[in-house]
Amino acid sequence: MTEAAVRAALGRVVDPEIRRPITELDMVREVVVDGGAATVGIALTIIGCPAADTIERDVRAAVLGVPGVSSLDLTVGVMTVPEREALVARLRGTRTSQFGPDTLTKIYAVTSGKGGVGKSTLTANLAVALAARGLKVGLVDADVFGFSIPGILGLGPDDRPTKVGDLMMPPTGHGVQVISIGMFVDGSTAVSWRGPLLHRTIQQFLTDVWFGDLDVLLLDLPPGTGDVAISIGQLLPHAEVLVVTTPQPAAAEVAERSGLVARQTGQAVIGVIENMTGDLFGSGGGDAVASRLDVPVLARIPLSRPLREGGDAGAPVVLADPADPAAAAILSLADTLAARGRDLPRRPLPFTAG
Ligand SMILES: Nc1ncnc2c1ncn2[C@@H]1O[C@H](COP(=O)(O)OP(=O)(O)O)[C@@H](O)[C@H]1O
Ligand SMILES: [Mg+2]
Repeated sequence: MTEAAVRAALGRVVDPEIRRPITELDMVREVVVDGGAATVGIALTIIGCPAADTIERDVRAAVLGVPGVSSLDLTVGVMTVPEREALVARLRGTRTSQFGPDTLTKIYAVTSGKGGVGKSTLTANLAVALAARGLKVGLVDADVFGFSIPGILGLGPDDRPTKVGDLMMPPTGHGVQVISIGMFVDGSTAVSWRGPLLHRTIQQFLTDVWFGDLDVLLLDLPPGTGDVAISIGQLLPHAEVLVVTTPQPAAAEVAERSGLVARQTGQAVIGVIENMTGDLFGSGGGDAVASRLDVPVLARIPLSRPLREGGDAGAPVVLADPADPAAAAILSLADTLAARGRDLPRRPLPFTAG
């Protein structure tokens, strides 16, 4: 009976990288209880895996917390290569459909007509806000040439994905699992790739990165209607699109084009986010894009020094200063998105050129 209780307790120990209970991952090798003395053997995925200390500590706490257990002899080993391959194959199996058409993950691609409109800042803050609501959130930085998400989320050079077999476990920033090309190139290297390599990179981000079962996946797209936007359209035709624009009429016009290109790939544009709302940048941009794309303006984010400073410092304003008006607007957008069921109004196809 105590043995079953120990196994049940081990079932609550989660591998911090794979985010599954260690019992499900076949990491538990041996459980013997003799009187009050427990003997437990576990096998980690790789030697010196960064999660090892956490797992060991959690296992000790879990086993010693079982009533009737007074001591623990814990052996920590490592999986054999075939065992690890079997595990990776199983993870892949559960995950192939993860971002496929039947996925339960809500996928939002955030696009804009031009750069500098605040797309990355808003996407990162929105991701953090959704994670703070208790959702499991992933963020793919698809702006390969102009990646900026790791910095905004406070991830540094040491925050790189860990490999388990040929899967990559993404690092976490402020509760959001993040993958970015910035984790693979050194800061001073300019990425200048052609379409096919860009496509393969995005594909790898979506297939070889293990996000677990996400509630929400956000993608920060590069501005405009280039190769990456088209790849995302092909790889994730069921993604829903948020268009970011500033209030300026000129910005609004190019933003509308990004929405139309997304629509051509079958993606549904669900709304517009107007950023830098206020007198400085004119007015009406958000409404203009929204009415031409026949979608609502979901949020208006005012100019905000704390928002910008939070981005520069890697401390997102939605956590650092939630009362700031821009933070409040993003938090309320997060509520709107979190409340959306999968089947609430999508507006597919009706592609009206010009
Ligand atoms: N509402 C805002 N108020 C003040 N600064 C902002 C706001 N939104 C974005 N910024 C700042 O504008 C700059 C560009 O934002 P960024 O998110 O990198 O844009 P994009 O991803 O569209 O190129 C950043 O320095 C960011 O901090
Ligand atoms: Mg950006």
